Amino acid sequence: MKDLSTKFMGLSLKNPIIAGSSGLSSSLAGIKKLEEGGAGAIVLKSIFEEEIFYEMDDLMKNVPETSRYMERFDYHDLVLKGENLAKYTTLIKEAKQAVKIPIVASINCSYTYEWTDYAKRLESAGADALELNMFFLPTDQKRSAEEVERAYFMVVEKIVATVSIPVSLKISYYFTCLGQTIQKLSRQGIAGLVLFNRFYSPDFDIENLKVTPTNILSSPSDLTMSLRWMAMMSQKVECDLAASTGVHDGAAVIKQLLAGAQAVQVVSTLYKNGPTYIQTMLNELQEWMTRHGYEKLQDFRGKMSQDKSVDPAIYERVQFMKYFSGQKDIL
Ligand SMILES: Cc1cc2nc3c(=O)[nH]c(=O)nc-3n(C[C@H](O)[C@H](O)[C@H](O)COP(=O)(O)O)c2cc1C
Repeated sequence: MKDLSTKFMGLSLKNPIIAGSSGLSSSLAGIKKLEEGGAGAIVLKSIFEEEIFYEMDDLMKNVPETSRYMERFDYHDLVLKGENLAKYTTLIKEAKQAVKIPIVASINCSYTYEWTDYAKRLESAGADALELNMFFLPTDQKRSAEEVERAYFMVVEKIVATVSIPVSLKISYYFTCLGQTIQKLSRQGIAGLVLFNRFYSPDFDIENLKVTPTNILSSPSDLTMSLRWMAMMSQKVECDLAASTGVHDGAAVIKQLLAGAQAVQVVSTLYKNGPTYIQTMLNELQEWMTRHGYEKLQDFRGKMSQDKSVDPAIYERVQFMKYFSGQKDIL
């Protein structure tokens, strides 16, 4: 047996596969299955601000217009937020009793700072760490790139100052200057960065002229974006990095570790193959380590990062030069 243990955001994990935030970790039954499947840690389904406000909108529809005065609004606001938070903190407490592996609570952050209070409550409920799932779709024409980006730093600063458990940040790759932003964020007192989140995208049903969801689950080819950035950034940041998106099998776990990841997060592959697939991926990792003579993850972690490469430029190549110059043998 190889030593698969790792550290991510100061947490000791028995192996590097973390069950990422999704519906699979939204119930106690789901959480137990993920632990039985072999997960090294679990990120709970995020608590969403949107969800609270949509619920409140629905409720408000049943309130006569004349009664929608401010006190009433505030009352619903408070009750609904309270109910959602109570459910979430109960889940954290139950999960902590039921499983041995670390439980990471997840907040879908918005621009508001109310979340700092919620973060405190999730910490008090016993969460081992906190993952901030942060993405502001840059559609607000009034906000400049600097303003949008500043919001990430402000939320992080507030939350890090509020809780004493480790905080990680799961980001998208939609930043004007991604490498520099990753580096700067890593210096904000967070314990980890998760590269990258994946988003719900709309598609069109052309027969019924409806907007429909598409590609909810990732595919193995989605790995390359986070693999490139993991390889380029892993030796240049001041916090741990975990990979997310497109990790579907043991080979993908190995690639991300070679790129320098401390851990990987998996979701789509668990929807497709079930939580027991974690053990299959771990077996692939073990077999590969045996073939290559590695005893522990540290023996090969980061071996294929950009900093260790003899040809660092290869990670920054973006054009299909060989293909267009007629060397089609690469296909
Ligand atoms: C059905 C579903 C629900 C998800 N819910 C959340 C969520 O609540 N919070 C979050 O941060 N990410 C959520 N995600 C994103 C995943 O955590 C993950 O970042 C993304 O699916 C990419 O990883 P994968 O390629 O392994 O699926 C969800 C993904 C799926 C497929």
